[in-house]
Amino acid sequence: MCGIIGYIGSKEATPILLEGLKKLEYRGYDSSGVGVCSAKDGKIIVRKAQGKIRHLEDLIKSHPITHATTGISHTRWATHGAPSHRNSHPHCDVKQTIAVVHNGIIENYQELRQELQKKGVKFVSETDTEVVGHLVAEYFKGDLVKAVQKAIGRVRGAFAFGVICSADPNLLVAARVGSPLIIGIGKGENFIASDVPAILDKTKRVIYLKDGEMAALTRDDVKIWKFDGKPVTPKIDTVTFTVGSAQKEGYPHFMLKEIHEQPHVLAQMIKSRIKNDHVVLDGIGLSDNQLKSIKNIYIVACGTAYHAGMVGKYLIEKIAGIPVVVDAASEFRYREPILQKNTLILSVSQSGETADTLAAVRDARARGAKAITICNAVGSSLVRESDGVLYTHAGPEIGVASTKAYTAQIGMLYLFALKLGELHKKLSDQERHKIIKEFKHIPSLYKTILQQKEHVAQIAKKKFRFGCFLFLGRNVNYPSALEGALKLKEISYIPAEGYAAGEMKHGPIALIDEYRAVVCIAPQSEVYEKMISNIQEIRARKGKITAIATEGDKDISKHADYVIYIPKIDPLLTPLLVAIPLQLIAYYIAVNLGCDVDQPRNLAKSVTVE
Ligand code: AGP
Repeated sequence: MCGIIGYIGSKEATPILLEGLKKLEYRGYDSSGVGVCSAKDGKIIVRKAQGKIRHLEDLIKSHPITHATTGISHTRWATHGAPSHRNSHPHCDVKQTIAVVHNGIIENYQELRQELQKKGVKFVSETDTEVVGHLVAEYFKGDLVKAVQKAIGRVRGAFAFGVICSADPNLLVAARVGSPLIIGIGKGENFIASDVPAILDKTKRVIYLKDGEMAALTRDDVKIWKFDGKPVTPKIDTVTFTVGSAQKEGYPHFMLKEIHEQPHVLAQMIKSRIKNDHVVLDGIGLSDNQLKSIKNIYIVACGTAYHAGMVGKYLIEKIAGIPVVVDAASEFRYREPILQKNTLILSVSQSGETADTLAAVRDARARGAKAITICNAVGSSLVRESDGVLYTHAGPEIGVASTKAYTAQIGMLYLFALKLGELHKKLSDQERHKIIKEFKHIPSLYKTILQQKEHVAQIAKKKFRFGCFLFLGRNVNYPSALEGALKLKEISYIPAEGYAAGEMKHGPIALIDEYRAVVCIAPQSEVYEKMISNIQEIRARKGKITAIATEGDKDISKHADYVIYIPKIDPLLTPLLVAIPLQLIAYYIAVNLGCDVDQPRNLAKSVTVE
């Protein structure tokens, strides 16, 4: 979704802002803009462009900005009003003395707009954001902090703001509710940003602004207050990501790089979370006694994280014997689920900022439930709003299509299931030992699978012209089928359906003919034979089959057009392995089609609005 970067220091702001915007491109956007305070004539200068950031760069090349060391900038993902020059940010007041960038949605903007229009304010955009520029201008009596504070008091909804003012070019004001915003602390310069990668090459010292806080940045200082004016002592964190983790490092796309990072992510997880054959879940926030008393679990998540949650249901029910319901967070929050005294809410999220997941957790906690989040983004809203966190530490995921975050989520769900299994006395020491031993092999097995990427690329070459795909799996790999289909549709735009293979006869079989590509997930497991029956049925109807099967399974090649092998492993762990061929299939098909793999159309990396 929208991205923000702001700068205050002694260098020219515009190049720094443009550089930062490029690092936020992965969030998804359709237009961009910068606004700076010019020291030359005490004015605010704004440049905006529809489309890619290179269009904004071209505009700035032809209409340069100099002598401006304070500025804000934005990538916009349209919500209110079409992607266009006039709707892109920053938005200003009528006299262009105030400029605002905004992430989030202002819910009462219509009524504020009418109120301002009655006072004679002329609006130039269709956005919800523009009201803020006019409100701040109306309240500005020489003190920008006070004016922003008053304006905030009038708006409802979710927001992260960056505000500058021509009357005080040595000040940058920021505020947040709902939408994330960080402050980067430099030497003689400071930054605001919606996400760490935007400023990672400038500083690793960050303050995660909390909901209901605002900040005033000068070159050498950062002051933070609650909206009611109460001062806050800022806590400065040091980000552990390296600059390299937010760069492609020789890979053609972030997605391919992130697919290749999965052995490392799982190896790190094993190293830090398994000690002397026991699972260690530091940060979980609940005591062993509280974990022992859990009677049922709701997993809430969206998209890929929801699919990881579905795998988690199979794992927790099988390993720990605790009933689990998995809900898309957007459904959970409106269906009044029945929460009991010992119900646990387990949210799963890469970004920790997904609006629906956050709302589901808030709602459940307000009703007395305990909540743990499995999350990748350190210090994110979900982390702050949960009783405990299990960080996946997968590193920044820049490709919009989630890959390493997904397998890290499944890995963590596996460890969580083991912990519960141990505490609920469902697992003997021997069983735990066996499972942990298998789990420890995952990183090296990943490397083996990745060696087959050329084979997958060849399959993709034969398949990319198919107009529709069906992904089938059973049991713990039913969610894998859903995820395989999601991956393909989001980056290649090919319609794809994921289905529980047992359900095929109840409808989707009508789709099968010689023009249908079907991916069958059929590793060795108790449902293997059932999968083979499904494969036969597809073959009888001339469907074109790619199977994902266990090494050594020669028979399957008799039924399938192509086979991708994964190493033999405990069936419960197979979703971790089959994820890689599924990701590679989607990746290479999208590349063959010439799609923008890392920034697919219409998608945002983190969906911070409902
Ligand atoms: C994954 O490829 C997606 N782009 C998307 O479904 C994502 O998983 C979903 O929006 C949830 O995001 P989160 O993990 O940051 O909460």
